[in-house]
Amino acid sequence: MKNLIYITSVIFGFLYAQNELFIPETMSGNEFNLSLQNGTTQLFDGDATETMGANGGNLGPTLIFEQGEFVNINVANNIGEETTIHWHGMHISPENDGGPHSVIMPGETWNPNFTVMDKACTMWYHPHLHEKTNEHVTKGITGFIIIRDDEEAALDLPRTYGVDDFPLNLQTKQFDASNQIVIGEHGDNVPMVNSTIDAFVEFPAQVVRLRVLNGSSMRVFNLGFSNNSTFYQIGSDGGLFSEPISMDRLLLAPAERAELLVDLGDMTGESIELKSYGSTLPQSAYGITGLSTMQGVAPSGYNSNELNGNDFILLGINVGAQTDNPILTIPSLLVDVTPIDESEATLTRNLQITAPNMMQNSITGPFVFDGQSFDMNVINQTVQLGDTEIWEIFNMSMVAHPFHIHDVQFYILDRNGVIPPENERGRKDVVLVKNMETVRFIAKFEDHADDEVPYMYHCHMLQHEDEGLMGQFIVEGESVGIDNSITLPNDFVLFPAYPNPFNPTTTIRFKLVTSQQNASLRIYDISGRLVETLLNEKLIAGEHEIKWNGGNNPSGVYFISFETGEFFSNQKIILIK
Ligand code: C2O
Ligand code: CU
Repeated sequence: MKNLIYITSVIFGFLYAQNELFIPETMSGNEFNLSLQNGTTQLFDGDATETMGANGGNLGPTLIFEQGEFVNINVANNIGEETTIHWHGMHISPENDGGPHSVIMPGETWNPNFTVMDKACTMWYHPHLHEKTNEHVTKGITGFIIIRDDEEAALDLPRTYGVDDFPLNLQTKQFDASNQIVIGEHGDNVPMVNSTIDAFVEFPAQVVRLRVLNGSSMRVFNLGFSNNSTFYQIGSDGGLFSEPISMDRLLLAPAERAELLVDLGDMTGESIELKSYGSTLPQSAYGITGLSTMQGVAPSGYNSNELNGNDFILLGINVGAQTDNPILTIPSLLVDVTPIDESEATLTRNLQITAPNMMQNSITGPFVFDGQSFDMNVINQTVQLGDTEIWEIFNMSMVAHPFHIHDVQFYILDRNGVIPPENERGRKDVVLVKNMETVRFIAKFEDHADDEVPYMYHCHMLQHEDEGLMGQFIVEGESVGIDNSITLPNDFVLFPAYPNPFNPTTTIRFKLVTSQQNASLRIYDISGRLVETLLNEKLIAGEHEIKWNGGNNPSGVYFISFETGEFFSNQKIILIK
């Protein structure tokens, strides 16, 4: 694998290898081409490991998206079998979301395109084909998505990729005697960071930002540094906090992300380790000892897996020289966070996680929601567009499950009635629900609706997901945006106005494939009265952009109407004054 450097040294007679941490390349702009492919990676001495990746044989590039930008992505499937690609955590329409219904046939290319609406944060992409997610992810198709926005850009934070800002995809995997990846047997005893085993990295002696993802298919990490130093969490799955939160341990379940700051300012020449303190994981978390003996039959590999119940090293860190213009202090304030108030919810939805055969299936499952295993043809929930809902997840099974929902970022209201720890009060799309725990979260389902294509909710332990701990929901209503506004999809696209709701201006963008003799863009109010004519002229083919500042009009709902002789489209926007 390119960019991987192997340094081998003989220590005390053992062959001890330390490998420099692999840092994926970045891609940015508005056009992204990803080619999913098979490869081989030399992870051990001897046989190479069969892996999968995007634009390479293992892992995928880090995609850098700017909030408000329109991105067009081509995903070519060259792995020789069906798969999908899901943009985990992003607020995009069901069609572009890449769930199990958006199958990319081998040899075909899928072309999602959308406006990036999310706040600055760390997200990721991975396959989501039903019953194959675990295999495709574990073999290596995962990549980071870094979203940037103006609010984040104004802060004094490290943000030079690979210099003071590092993506860390933490995984544990199982390998067989010929170094091949084993799926679903609970013997995941090899820790890896960005697919590097026994990884080390050199960080500069200053404040360093870590974008940490738990990319494991099952394991929960309890992160900390070997010198027990304090570090600061500055953001959760979907955005930054209002201020840094200091800690010396961080629990991170599969698919959760955390942005961390660690101050290495006075540590030049020293070495520390990033570890998972598996000996102090909470009850029912995958990775404790004795999980399988509490009830039922032990799954084959779990009890003999030496990582379970133990502390282990993920990443060796050598502190090197300071860079130019280093960030040397932890900022005291970050961004405005406005949690959704419980009073805004119009509905509470209850979901129960059970194992149909409780006595036998303490870890391996299969598990189900509300007694029903996932069925591609069954819509389990219907949500009304624009509604704010509380989802209440009760876990009656013996193992903790990381619950994930597509489309939205949510705020956790409580765990068994108790307000969650400070670092769980920000924007989230995954929450670990422990054995006999009830977690309530609140979310608003806005912008995207589709009568046909559902969004998913599921456990992000990939074996559980593949075996049926997943459900799907439709968002019903008239979507503000691309999905129902395309009249002639091949000739004309009206992109979602952004921001929306807006104050003081929104940007309206559309694309014409052929020039139009006469095109108009008008704003109407909710009673159909013409408010303003923004365009009424000949328009050439290409992308057009126009801003509307709301004029002297009051707060409320307005409609953008685009019209030519051939087609018509409209879109709802909301002005807030
Ligand atoms: Cu990260 Cu539905 O997935
Ligand atoms: Cu689960």
